[in-house]
Amino acid sequence: MDTFDLTRLLPADHFSTALRHDVRQGLTADPKRLPPKWFYDARGSELFEEITRLPEYYPTRAERAILTARAGEIAAATRARTLVELGSGSSEKTRLLLDALRSLDTLEDYVPVDVSESALTSAGAALAAEYPGLAVHGVLADFTSRLGLPPEGGPRLVAFLGGTLGNLLPKERAAFLRGLRATLDPGDFLLLGTDLVKDPAVLVAAYDDRAGVTAEFNRNVLNVLNRELGADFDPTAFEHVALWDPEQEWIEMRLRSLRAQTVKIPALDLPVHFDRGEELRTEVSAKFRRERVADELTAAGLRLTHWWTDPEGRFGLSLSAP
Ligand code: AVJ
Repeated sequence: MDTFDLTRLLPADHFSTALRHDVRQGLTADPKRLPPKWFYDARGSELFEEITRLPEYYPTRAERAILTARAGEIAAATRARTLVELGSGSSEKTRLLLDALRSLDTLEDYVPVDVSESALTSAGAALAAEYPGLAVHGVLADFTSRLGLPPEGGPRLVAFLGGTLGNLLPKERAAFLRGLRATLDPGDFLLLGTDLVKDPAVLVAAYDDRAGVTAEFNRNVLNVLNRELGADFDPTAFEHVALWDPEQEWIEMRLRSLRAQTVKIPALDLPVHFDRGEELRTEVSAKFRRERVADELTAAGLRLTHWWTDPEGRFGLSLSAP
């Protein structure tokens, strides 16, 4: 039988409480900033799916190529009974892992972990139907703050794909990896996708596509604040900016105010002033070298056991163990 169940580790008011906190803290900071998690309302998720199909945005294709080539090796190395995926598992990449693990006949449970209940239920129910006998346990949690993995079902393979680790600032990444390590038992593995350092022109193009889809994705976060907090942002009064920071080795996305303006956020009783040309940072997307991945895993108490890249060396996939 195909089964799907959902465990809620976030209180019902989590979304509004966390959004209010992040917006108040971020828009009164200097420079202003917002965490990228707020991109992903229904429209933002749709725009991100569109981004993954853009000619300039290579990470999804590159990671999929590695998984297609290496899923069998990953299954053989881990013999996982449970696949945990940080992120709702709506992608084709999830199926590559599930297929490889099922062919070894070791897989019994799939545990997608996400902050979006709708993403979890739609992806989880679909996978439960596509994989008869697989028990799918959705977990509603913000894995960047509290992981909440179910203890049973070892050996477990925890997959954190897409390069989303790069959205965390270095200190946040270190805390996340330490927290993840604390939930792993001997025999468990972490499968981690990391975008790699390359020609800055290629990197910037991937975050500033000619069709303007990423620009719309970036500006859409203002629509989220307008809808959820009653703000009066005019998205057309902000310009999309994507730049490469060579010191930090990360892409930054920003929204640049085209004029001096004051935005009202009634739900927070907060007016926010922007100078003409002032920029709001909406995302960092860190790019890695193999050495830095190994160092950060080691610092968290994890041992890099396998490292693969796509043929062009654009994206890295690593297996590590506690
Ligand atoms: C989904 C976080 C991996 O950082 O490349 C895509 C999000 N931002 N285009 C990334 C994103 C702009 C993406 N992650």
